[in-house]
Amino acid sequence: MKTIICYSPSEKEIKDAAEIIRSGGLVAFPTETVYGLGASALSEDAAHKIYKAKGRPSDNPLIIHLAYPEDAERYAEVSPAYRMLSRFMPGPLTVILPKKEIIPDCVTGGLSTVAVRVPSHPVAHALIKAADLPIAAPSANRSGKPSCTTVEHVIHDMSGRIDMILNGGESDFGLESTIVLPYGDKSVKVLRPGGVTVEMLEKAGFEVTLDKAVSEKLADGEVPLAPGMKYRHYAPEATVVLLDGSPEAVRDYMLEHKEMDNIAFIVYDGEEELLGEALSVTIGQRDNSEEYAHKLFSVLRELDEKEGIDTILAPLPAKDHIGLALCNRLMKAAGYTVLSV
Ligand code: TXA
Ligand code: MG
Repeated sequence: MKTIICYSPSEKEIKDAAEIIRSGGLVAFPTETVYGLGASALSEDAAHKIYKAKGRPSDNPLIIHLAYPEDAERYAEVSPAYRMLSRFMPGPLTVILPKKEIIPDCVTGGLSTVAVRVPSHPVAHALIKAADLPIAAPSANRSGKPSCTTVEHVIHDMSGRIDMILNGGESDFGLESTIVLPYGDKSVKVLRPGGVTVEMLEKAGFEVTLDKAVSEKLADGEVPLAPGMKYRHYAPEATVVLLDGSPEAVRDYMLEHKEMDNIAFIVYDGEEELLGEALSVTIGQRDNSEEYAHKLFSVLRELDEKEGIDTILAPLPAKDHIGLALCNRLMKAAGYTVLSV
Protein backbone atom coordinates (compact mmCIF):
# COMPACT_ATOMS: atom_id res chain seq x y z
CA MET A 1 0.00 0.00 0.00
CA LYS A 2 1.26 3.49 -0.84
CA THR A 3 1.08 5.79 2.18
CA ILE A 4 0.39 9.47 1.48
CA ILE A 5 2.47 11.71 3.78
CA CYS A 6 1.31 15.30 4.43
CA TYR A 7 4.14 17.26 6.01
CA SER A 8 2.13 20.42 6.38
CA PRO A 9 -1.52 19.36 6.22
CA SER A 10 -3.77 21.86 4.41
CA GLU A 11 -7.53 22.14 4.98
CA LYS A 12 -8.06 20.16 1.78
CA GLU A 13 -5.68 17.39 2.92
CA ILE A 14 -7.43 17.16 6.29
CA LYS A 15 -10.75 16.80 4.40
CA ASP A 16 -9.16 14.02 2.29
CA ALA A 17 -7.93 12.32 5.47
CA ALA A 18 -11.44 12.56 6.96
CA GLU A 19 -12.85 11.00 3.79
CA ILE A 20 -10.38 8.09 4.10
CA ILE A 21 -11.59 7.52 7.66
CA ARG A 22 -15.26 7.76 6.64
CA SER A 23 -14.67 5.11 3.98
CA GLY A 24 -12.97 2.68 6.37
CA GLY A 25 -9.27 3.53 5.89
CA LEU A 26 -6.43 4.31 8.32
CA VAL A 27 -4.86 7.72 8.98
CA ALA A 28 -2.09 8.46 11.48
CA PHE A 29 -2.46 11.90 13.05
CA PRO A 30 -0.72 14.05 15.68
CA THR A 31 -2.09 14.64 19.17
CA GLU A 32 -0.65 16.59 22.10
CA THR A 33 0.34 13.28 23.80
CA VAL A 34 1.65 10.96 21.08
CA TYR A 35 0.66 10.23 17.45
CA GLY A 36 -2.49 8.15 16.98
CA LEU A 37 -3.46 5.62 14.32
CA GLY A 38 -7.04 6.52 13.51
CA ALA A 39 -10.02 4.76 11.97
CA SER A 40 -13.80 4.98 12.28
CA ALA A 41 -14.86 3.87 15.75
CA LEU A 42 -18.23 2.82 14.29
CA SER A 43 -16.81 0.18 11.94
CA GLU A 44 -15.70 -3.31 12.92
CA ASP A 45 -13.69 -3.72 9.72
CA ALA A 46 -11.76 -0.51 10.40
CA ALA A 47 -10.93 -1.64 13.96
CA HIS A 48 -9.61 -4.94 12.58
CA LYS A 49 -7.41 -2.99 10.15
CA ILE A 50 -5.91 -1.08 13.12
CA TYR A 51 -5.04 -4.28 14.97
CA LYS A 52 -3.47 -5.70 11.81
CA ALA A 53 -1.39 -2.59 10.97
CA LYS A 54 -0.02 -2.42 14.53
CA GLY A 55 0.41 -6.16 14.98
CA ARG A 56 -1.61 -5.72 18.18
CA PRO A 57 -3.63 -8.32 20.11
CA SER A 58 -7.32 -7.60 19.54
CA ASP A 59 -8.24 -8.00 23.22
CA ASN A 60 -6.59 -4.62 23.85
CA PRO A 61 -9.35 -1.98 23.57
CA LEU A 62 -9.08 1.30 21.64
CA ILE A 63 -9.67 4.87 22.82
CA ILE A 64 -12.32 6.81 20.89
CA HIS A 65 -11.39 10.42 20.06
CA LEU A 66 -14.09 13.09 19.99
CA ALA A 67 -14.19 16.74 18.92
CA TYR A 68 -16.05 17.96 22.05
CA PRO A 69 -16.58 16.53 25.58
CA GLU A 70 -20.38 16.61 25.19
CA ASP A 71 -20.21 14.30 22.14
CA ALA A 72 -19.52 11.46 24.60
CA GLU A 73 -23.28 11.23 25.31
CA ARG A 74 -23.85 9.67 21.89
CA TYR A 75 -21.49 6.78 22.58
CA ALA A 76 -21.43 6.30 26.36
CA GLU A 77 -23.41 6.71 29.60
CA VAL A 78 -22.21 10.06 30.91
CA SER A 79 -22.12 10.72 34.68
CA PRO A 80 -21.74 13.88 36.81
CA ALA A 81 -18.12 12.82 37.46
CA TYR A 82 -17.51 12.82 33.70
CA ARG A 83 -18.89 16.35 33.46
CA MET A 84 -16.50 17.40 36.22
CA LEU A 85 -13.60 15.70 34.47
CA SER A 86 -14.40 17.46 31.22
CA ARG A 87 -12.76 20.59 32.64
CA PHE A 88 -9.49 18.88 31.57
CA MET A 89 -10.76 18.55 28.00
CA PRO A 90 -9.55 19.09 25.40
CA GLY A 91 -6.31 17.67 26.80
CA PRO A 92 -4.36 14.56 27.79
CA LEU A 93 -7.16 12.76 29.66
CA THR A 94 -9.06 9.56 28.78
CA VAL A 95 -12.18 8.61 30.72
CA ILE A 96 -13.65 5.09 30.94
CA LEU A 97 -17.47 5.06 30.72
CA PRO A 98 -20.17 2.41 30.22
CA LYS A 99 -20.54 2.09 26.45
CA LYS A 100 -23.64 2.45 24.31
CA GLU A 101 -24.50 -0.17 21.70
CA ILE A 102 -23.43 1.98 18.73
CA ILE A 103 -19.75 1.25 19.56
CA PRO A 104 -18.87 -2.20 18.20
CA ASP A 105 -17.51 -4.79 20.65
CA CYS A 106 -14.25 -5.22 18.78
CA VAL A 107 -13.39 -1.54 19.41
CA THR A 108 -13.61 -2.15 23.17
CA GLY A 109 -12.04 -5.61 23.11
CA GLY A 110 -15.35 -7.07 24.27
CA LEU A 111 -15.58 -4.80 27.37
CA SER A 112 -18.86 -3.14 28.37
CA THR A 113 -17.00 0.17 28.78
CA VAL A 114 -15.46 2.57 26.28
CA ALA A 115 -12.47 4.92 26.67
CA VAL A 116 -13.23 8.52 25.61
CA ARG A 117 -10.75 11.30 24.88
CA VAL A 118 -10.90 14.82 23.40
CA PRO A 119 -7.46 15.73 22.05
CA SER A 120 -6.37 19.37 21.94
CA HIS A 121 -3.96 19.23 18.99
CA PRO A 122 -5.48 21.43 16.25
CA VAL A 123 -4.84 18.85 13.50
CA ALA A 124 -6.51 16.09 15.56
CA HIS A 125 -9.46 18.37 16.33
CA ALA A 126 -9.87 19.41 12.68
CA LEU A 127 -9.67 15.77 11.52
CA ILE A 128 -12.31 14.51 13.99
CA LYS A 129 -14.62 17.41 13.11
CA ALA A 130 -14.24 16.86 9.39
CA ALA A 131 -14.78 13.08 9.72
CA ASP A 132 -17.91 13.76 11.79
CA LEU A 133 -17.34 10.38 13.49
CA PRO A 134 -15.65 9.19 16.67
CA ILE A 135 -12.12 8.16 15.71
CA ALA A 136 -10.73 5.01 17.32
CA ALA A 137 -6.98 5.45 17.73
CA PRO A 138 -4.27 3.59 19.56
CA SER A 139 -0.77 5.04 19.62
CA ALA A 140 0.68 4.87 16.08
CA ASN A 141 3.69 2.67 16.92
CA ARG A 142 4.08 -0.97 15.89
CA SER A 143 3.04 -3.07 18.87
CA GLY A 144 5.87 -3.36 21.43
CA LYS A 145 7.76 -0.23 20.24
CA PRO A 146 7.76 3.10 22.08
CA SER A 147 4.88 5.37 21.06
CA CYS A 148 5.57 7.81 18.21
CA THR A 149 6.27 11.42 19.16
CA THR A 150 7.44 12.66 15.73
CA VAL A 151 6.22 12.11 12.18
CA GLU A 152 9.53 10.34 11.40
CA HIS A 153 8.69 7.68 14.02
CA VAL A 154 5.30 7.16 12.39
CA ILE A 155 6.82 6.91 8.91
CA HIS A 156 9.35 4.37 10.24
CA ASP A 157 6.67 2.17 11.83
CA MET A 158 3.67 2.58 9.52
CA SER A 159 4.81 3.52 6.01
CA GLY A 160 3.30 1.06 3.51
CA ARG A 161 0.79 -0.24 6.08
CA ILE A 162 -1.75 2.62 6.23
CA ASP A 163 -3.40 5.12 3.86
CA MET A 164 -2.17 8.47 5.13
CA ILE A 165 0.10 10.17 7.70
CA LEU A 166 -0.51 13.75 8.89
CA ASN A 167 2.41 15.64 10.40
CA GLY A 168 1.83 17.92 13.38
CA GLY A 169 5.34 18.41 14.71
CA GLU A 170 6.77 16.94 17.90
CA SER A 171 4.16 15.83 20.44
CA ASP A 172 3.93 18.30 23.35
CA PHE A 173 3.73 15.83 26.24
CA GLY A 174 5.50 12.84 24.68
CA LEU A 175 3.68 10.34 26.94
CA GLU A 176 0.21 8.86 26.40
CA SER A 177 -2.87 10.34 28.10
CA THR A 178 -3.90 9.80 31.71
CA ILE A 179 -6.61 7.10 31.85
CA VAL A 180 -9.15 7.36 34.67
CA LEU A 181 -12.10 5.27 35.78
CA PRO A 182 -14.63 7.53 37.56
CA TYR A 183 -16.81 6.07 40.31
CA GLY A 184 -19.21 7.57 42.82
CA ASP A 185 -19.61 11.33 42.62
CA LYS A 186 -16.06 12.52 42.99
CA SER A 187 -13.70 9.54 42.90
CA VAL A 188 -11.37 8.38 40.15
CA LYS A 189 -8.98 5.49 39.83
CA VAL A 190 -5.95 6.26 37.66
CA LEU A 191 -5.31 3.28 35.36
CA ARG A 192 -2.44 4.95 33.46
CA PRO A 193 -0.75 8.17 34.64
CA GLY A 194 -0.14 10.98 32.12
CA GLY A 195 -0.26 14.73 31.53
CA VAL A 196 -3.34 15.29 33.70
CA THR A 197 -1.59 14.53 36.98
CA VAL A 198 -2.82 13.16 40.32
CA GLU A 199 -2.14 16.60 41.83
CA MET A 200 -4.32 18.27 39.18
CA LEU A 201 -7.17 15.80 39.77
CA GLU A 202 -6.96 16.29 43.54
CA LYS A 203 -6.95 20.05 43.15
CA ALA A 204 -10.14 19.74 41.10
CA GLY A 205 -11.79 18.01 44.09
CA PHE A 206 -11.41 14.34 43.17
CA GLU A 207 -10.47 11.58 45.54
CA VAL A 208 -7.74 9.77 43.62
CA THR A 209 -6.47 6.20 43.88
CA LEU A 210 -3.90 4.48 41.69
CA ASP A 211 -4.47 1.13 40.04
CA LYS A 212 -1.85 -1.38 41.16
CA ALA A 213 -0.54 -1.72 37.59
CA VAL A 214 0.67 1.93 37.70
CA SER A 215 3.56 1.27 40.04
CA GLU A 216 4.00 -2.50 40.27
CA LYS A 217 4.71 -5.36 37.97
CA LEU A 218 1.63 -7.60 38.02
CA ALA A 219 1.96 -11.29 38.71
CA ASP A 220 1.45 -13.73 35.82
CA GLY A 221 -2.26 -14.05 35.12
CA GLU A 222 -3.20 -10.85 36.99
CA VAL A 223 -5.33 -8.58 34.78
CA PRO A 224 -5.02 -4.79 35.05
CA LEU A 225 -8.12 -2.58 34.62
CA ALA A 226 -6.58 -1.08 31.46
CA PRO A 227 -5.78 -4.26 29.52
CA GLY A 228 -2.91 -2.61 27.62
CA MET A 229 -0.98 -2.05 30.86
CA LYS A 230 -0.12 -5.74 30.98
CA TYR A 231 2.01 -5.68 27.85
CA ARG A 232 5.76 -5.16 27.98
CA HIS A 233 5.41 -1.86 26.14
CA TYR A 234 7.99 0.75 25.34
CA ALA A 235 10.83 -1.74 25.71
CA PRO A 236 13.96 -1.12 23.67
CA GLU A 237 16.16 -4.02 22.53
CA ALA A 238 18.79 -3.26 25.18
CA THR A 239 18.32 -3.85 28.92
CA VAL A 240 17.40 -0.60 30.66
CA VAL A 241 18.61 -0.17 34.26
CA LEU A 242 17.14 2.72 36.28
CA LEU A 243 19.36 4.37 38.87
CA ASP A 244 17.66 5.61 42.01
CA GLY A 245 19.72 7.83 44.33
CA SER A 246 21.08 11.31 44.94
CA PRO A 247 22.35 13.22 41.86
CA GLU A 248 25.94 12.63 43.06
CA ALA A 249 25.46 8.89 43.61
CA VAL A 250 23.84 8.43 40.18
CA ARG A 251 26.66 10.40 38.53
CA ASP A 252 29.34 8.41 40.38
CA TYR A 253 27.74 5.12 39.40
CA MET A 254 27.70 6.19 35.76
CA LEU A 255 31.33 7.33 35.91
CA GLU A 256 32.38 3.97 37.38
CA HIS A 257 30.78 2.19 34.42
CA LYS A 258 31.76 4.49 31.57
CA GLU A 259 34.45 2.13 30.24
CA MET A 260 32.06 -0.83 30.01
CA ASP A 261 31.50 -2.33 26.55
CA ASN A 262 28.17 -1.89 24.75
CA ILE A 263 26.77 0.54 27.29
CA ALA A 264 24.84 3.80 26.76
CA PHE A 265 23.86 6.50 29.24
CA ILE A 266 20.81 8.74 29.48
CA VAL A 267 22.01 11.87 31.27
CA TYR A 268 20.90 15.40 32.18
CA ASP A 269 22.25 18.39 30.24
CA GLY A 270 25.89 19.08 31.03
CA GLU A 271 26.69 15.57 32.27
CA GLU A 272 27.62 14.15 28.86
CA GLU A 273 31.06 15.81 29.06
CA LEU A 274 31.91 13.91 32.26
CA LEU A 275 31.39 10.62 30.46
CA GLY A 276 34.01 11.40 27.81
CA GLU A 277 34.01 8.88 24.95
CA ALA A 278 31.10 6.85 26.32
CA LEU A 279 27.83 6.94 24.37
CA SER A 280 25.44 9.31 26.12
CA VAL A 281 22.18 11.01 25.17
CA THR A 282 20.87 14.07 27.02
CA ILE A 283 17.33 14.25 28.35
CA GLY A 284 17.12 17.93 29.34
CA GLN A 285 17.70 19.85 32.55
CA ARG A 286 17.77 17.99 35.87
CA ASP A 287 14.45 18.32 37.73
CA ASN A 288 12.64 19.11 34.50
CA SER A 289 10.53 15.99 34.21
CA GLU A 290 8.39 17.61 31.48
CA GLU A 291 11.44 17.71 29.25
CA TYR A 292 12.48 14.14 30.16
CA ALA A 293 8.93 12.97 29.34
CA HIS A 294 8.91 14.94 26.09
CA LYS A 295 12.14 13.33 24.91
CA LEU A 296 12.00 9.83 26.42
CA PHE A 297 10.48 7.84 23.53
CA SER A 298 12.68 9.59 20.95
CA VAL A 299 15.76 8.78 22.99
CA LEU A 300 14.77 5.12 23.41
CA ARG A 301 14.19 4.85 19.67
CA GLU A 302 17.50 6.58 18.92
CA LEU A 303 19.38 4.16 21.17
CA ASP A 304 17.55 1.21 19.58
CA GLU A 305 18.96 2.23 16.19
CA LYS A 306 22.55 1.99 17.45
CA GLU A 307 24.32 -1.27 16.83
CA GLY A 308 25.68 -3.31 19.70
CA ILE A 309 24.22 -1.49 22.73
CA ASP A 310 23.08 -4.04 25.28
CA THR A 311 22.72 -1.93 28.43
CA ILE A 312 21.21 1.54 28.97
CA LEU A 313 21.62 3.32 32.32
CA ALA A 314 19.12 6.08 33.10
CA PRO A 315 18.31 8.25 36.14
CA LEU A 316 14.96 7.63 37.86
CA PRO A 317 13.19 10.99 38.37
CA ALA A 318 10.96 12.00 41.29
CA LYS A 319 7.49 10.41 41.18
CA ASP A 320 5.38 13.55 41.58
CA HIS A 321 3.45 15.51 38.92
CA ILE A 322 4.37 14.31 35.40
CA GLY A 323 7.21 12.33 37.06
CA LEU A 324 4.70 9.61 38.03
CA ALA A 325 3.85 8.96 34.37
CA LEU A 326 7.50 9.21 33.40
CA CYS A 327 8.54 6.68 36.07
CA ASN A 328 5.73 4.35 34.96
CA ARG A 329 6.99 4.33 31.33
CA LEU A 330 10.63 4.06 32.44
CA MET A 331 9.80 1.14 34.75
CA LYS A 332 8.09 -0.66 31.89
CA ALA A 333 11.02 -0.03 29.57
CA ALA A 334 13.30 -1.38 32.29
CA GLY A 335 11.14 -4.41 33.07
CA TYR A 336 10.94 -2.90 36.61
CA THR A 337 14.71 -3.11 37.22
CA VAL A 338 15.70 -0.31 39.59
CA LEU A 339 19.14 -0.13 41.18
CA SER A 340 19.45 1.86 44.41
CA VAL A 341 22.79 3.68 44.36
O1 TXA B 1 -2.56 9.60 24.53
C1 TXA B 1 -3.20 8.60 24.20
O2 TXA B 1 -4.06 8.08 24.92
C2 TXA B 1 -2.91 8.00 22.82
C3 TXA B 1 -3.37 9.03 21.75
C4 TXA B 1 -3.22 8.53 20.35
O3 TXA B 1 -4.68 9.42 22.03
N1 TXA B 1 -3.56 6.75 22.63
C5 TXA B 1 -3.13 5.63 23.25
O4 TXA B 1 -3.81 4.49 22.89
O5 TXA B 1 -2.23 5.59 24.06
P1 TXA B 1 -3.31 3.01 23.19
O6 TXA B 1 -4.26 2.15 22.45
O7 TXA B 1 -1.90 2.87 22.83
O8 TXA B 1 -3.55 2.83 24.71
C6 TXA B 1 -4.88 2.77 25.21
C7 TXA B 1 -4.92 2.20 26.57
C8 TXA B 1 -4.61 0.70 26.63
O9 TXA B 1 -3.84 0.44 27.78
C9 TXA B 1 -6.00 0.09 26.74
O10 TXA B 1 -5.97 -1.16 27.37
C10 TXA B 1 -6.73 1.15 27.57
O11 TXA B 1 -6.27 2.36 27.04
N2 TXA B 1 -8.19 1.09 27.36
C11 TXA B 1 -8.89 1.34 26.23
N3 TXA B 1 -10.21 1.15 26.42
C12 TXA B 1 -10.36 0.77 27.71
C13 TXA B 1 -11.49 0.41 28.51
N4 TXA B 1 -12.72 0.39 28.03
N5 TXA B 1 -11.25 0.07 29.82
C14 TXA B 1 -9.98 0.09 30.33
N6 TXA B 1 -8.89 0.41 29.60
C15 TXA B 1 -9.07 0.74 28.32
MG1 MG C 1 0.03 2.27 22.84
